[in-house]
Amino acid sequence: TALRAFVHALPKVELHVHLVGSASLPTVLELARRRPSAGVPTEPAALAGFFTFRDFPHFLRNYLAVTSLVRDARDIHTLVTGLAADLAAQNARYAEVTVTPYNHVLDGMSTDDLLTGLATGRAAARADHGVELAWCFDIPGEKGVVAGRETVVFALRERPEGLVSFGLGGPEVGVGRAQFAPFFTAAREAGLHSVPHAGETTGPATVWSAVHDLGAERIGHGIGAHTDPALLEYLAVQRIPLEVCPTSNVRTGQCASIAAHPVRRLLDHGVLVTLNTDDPPMFGATLDGEYVAVAETLSLTAAEIALFAKNAVDASFLPSADKTVLR
Ligand code: ADE
Ligand code: ZN
Repeated sequence: TALRAFVHALPKVELHVHLVGSASLPTVLELARRRPSAGVPTEPAALAGFFTFRDFPHFLRNYLAVTSLVRDARDIHTLVTGLAADLAAQNARYAEVTVTPYNHVLDGMSTDDLLTGLATGRAAARADHGVELAWCFDIPGEKGVVAGRETVVFALRERPEGLVSFGLGGPEVGVGRAQFAPFFTAAREAGLHSVPHAGETTGPATVWSAVHDLGAERIGHGIGAHTDPALLEYLAVQRIPLEVCPTSNVRTGQCASIAAHPVRRLLDHGVLVTLNTDDPPMFGATLDGEYVAVAETLSLTAAEIALFAKNAVDASFLPSADKTVLR
């Protein structure tokens, strides 16, 4: 369609995608066949069922099972270059990619392997796909403050090339943001940007906490803010962008449909909304697809659609000279 062609032609950036969650279905099948005991299906039909989620906890369980398949530098390299190829196919030239070092180490990977795979993958992404990648190292919140401490110590000790931000993922229910404040303070003092998930599965209080306790400069999801007018105004005035992932929210049961998604309300309150995929093959999402779905549902004009792409460049942690080029 004309809309799809227009969206595809827009140079886009992706600000919320998890490295493990970006693994293509063939890659997941290949990794699963190597290690059937992990419980990840080895046939396409069964994998489709495995990626049909009852709720967020179910999603996270299966996501962590896929994580456990990733074993060494070569696997990390495969994920990074696969993501770069997929981004190039969406006409996305830049992405900030969330990596969860603590989970890989728990699953037995050495930190050397992780860093080597990221570095070689990033170089290949640039050379072979013309895609620039930056990293967000995030805390898996379900593993508690020990994971927070380990993640920030690792991030600041290694400071790999391309590391720009520090995050917090996993569940929000029962995992208060504030307990991670010391780790975000240390990360921010070292120059990393703060980008916690908040308001994906819970309401405005979590988003307020991300802002006040973690110094959030962007919010992962943040849709839970939509019921609090004061918070919406705060996000708009302070220009704290939201990394909105509509299909993800539908597929984890946070919204009944794209039509029921609060993205319209966020836009109406002047919040800077960016569109992202989160864990694209697990949700059957693509970056072009997110733009098309929102454009169709909200009957957006071409200028309004293009604004999403521009917002994402502005909201990125690219140096300002590079932003000018991409805009
Ligand atoms: N890890 C991978 N995807 C996630 C999501 N959508 N929310 C929290 N943690 C995640
Ligand atoms: Zn996420």
